[in-house]
Amino acid sequence: MTLKASVIADRDFIVDKLDRRLFGTFVEHMGRCVYGGIYEPGHATADEHGFRQDVLELTKELGPTIVRYPGGNFLSGYDWEDGVGPKENRPVKLDLAWHSTETNQFGTNEFMTWIRKADIEPMFAVNLGTRGPDEARHFLEYCNHPGGTYYSDLRISHGFKEPHDIKFWCLGNEMDGPWQICAKTAHEYGRLAQETGKVMKWVDPSVELTACGSSQRLMPTYARWEYEVLDTCFEQVDYISLHHYMRNDGNDIKEFFAEVEALDYFIKEVAAIADAVAATRRSKKRIMLSLDEWNVWYKAHGPDDVKKPGWPEAPPLLEEIYNFEDALVLGGALIVMMNNADRLKAGCLAQLVNVIGPIMTETGGPAWRQTIFHPFADATKYGRGEVLRLKVDTTTFETKSQGAIPHLLTAAVFDPETGAVSVFALNRSTDEEMNLSVDLRGLGAGLKLEAATELHHADLKAVNTKGAETIRPAAHPAAKIDGQQFTATLKPQSWNVFSLRV
Ligand code: AHR
Repeated sequence: MTLKASVIADRDFIVDKLDRRLFGTFVEHMGRCVYGGIYEPGHATADEHGFRQDVLELTKELGPTIVRYPGGNFLSGYDWEDGVGPKENRPVKLDLAWHSTETNQFGTNEFMTWIRKADIEPMFAVNLGTRGPDEARHFLEYCNHPGGTYYSDLRISHGFKEPHDIKFWCLGNEMDGPWQICAKTAHEYGRLAQETGKVMKWVDPSVELTACGSSQRLMPTYARWEYEVLDTCFEQVDYISLHHYMRNDGNDIKEFFAEVEALDYFIKEVAAIADAVAATRRSKKRIMLSLDEWNVWYKAHGPDDVKKPGWPEAPPLLEEIYNFEDALVLGGALIVMMNNADRLKAGCLAQLVNVIGPIMTETGGPAWRQTIFHPFADATKYGRGEVLRLKVDTTTFETKSQGAIPHLLTAAVFDPETGAVSVFALNRSTDEEMNLSVDLRGLGAGLKLEAATELHHADLKAVNTKGAETIRPAAHPAAKIDGQQFTATLKPQSWNVFSLRV
């Protein structure tokens, strides 16, 4: 049987302008993300800074708009001072988060040099585990103050005359998690975020601050945590964070797909909690959401994946090998993110390379694209402009966790500046193709189809390996535009992207 789905999109009905920060990633001092990932002096492609050019090129192709750094759980024991200044003077320390040895040969200025080369915005985080407002204000002074003070002059003495001008800052990481170095109660953390946010905005009023939400929707303190934290630091912060890792523990593709619905509930719930806090104050301020860690992650989750014996340097950790179904689920999450563009203003695919990453490397060897690379690269390339509010008519399928959920997940984005319209469509039926028709209203009759691709494979478990990237987008065989009616036949279990222009 062939499924049918019809969609009405109207240029006059939008969710919101899509914030390009939605398509960020994450670099943590963890496993081989930094060392052996973006930084590997001595690698055949390394430049004078030790940056792997093969990874840099793949990063540019992936197209993230913002990258969060330096953690993650690592952050909560990190002393930023260890990672600046002459490399020979930097201390070697134990990293308690990942039971590794941190050499500090890569730090703030190396990251800033790398990210400027990649032409991406930085998102920094301050340690609110072992440290607090004092460290945060000094670190911000080091990064953003022009000069003439102890910390800004220290930066200049390290060879960085111009301020780094980092706008986006996270106040700690997953502070509710018992695994976190110096985890806090909501009350303790709320006060810490309030005072840290206050002094950071005194140092540089232009910064945007994110308070830590729950480390996942399943935490026992979820929702109450968000409420109490925001109730305490509401005036000081601009965003609240969400972390969402999607799992396929029961090896059931239907339940796996439903993890995407859980993300949609999560976003809407946190927005509602933030608005409830605003309501108690009769405040018009809207706290926005930053999904600053998200991905598929369930295979490399065992004790051996998170910790190696001894205190190794940059051991392989969380080296998840992504298969085709992971790419489909990741595409579904991207659609949900775009459709929540009115409240979700930033996102970080965790992480960038090797550690649950879209890019894999061999230390001393090549780099390649994992399956999840492709839907993410499609979103960064085509997700520009205003997200259109869609009317979607589609069949559904039953899941245990979320009840009936739609076969078709779709988002459409219109860019008034360029006239480009992008349609993202995921067919979640594993055995039926789908006839999709999209009525693109209010965009004129002169629409042209400029590009159409599909990501499809018969085997949900197929993977990309070094030298064999079998999962990659192909030209779409069955898509056409007739006036404002766009039609396409979507293969079963396929991720599809159509780019049209007025
Ligand atoms: O991304 C891997 C880890 O997952 C991060 O360090 C932590 O914040 C989360 O639990």
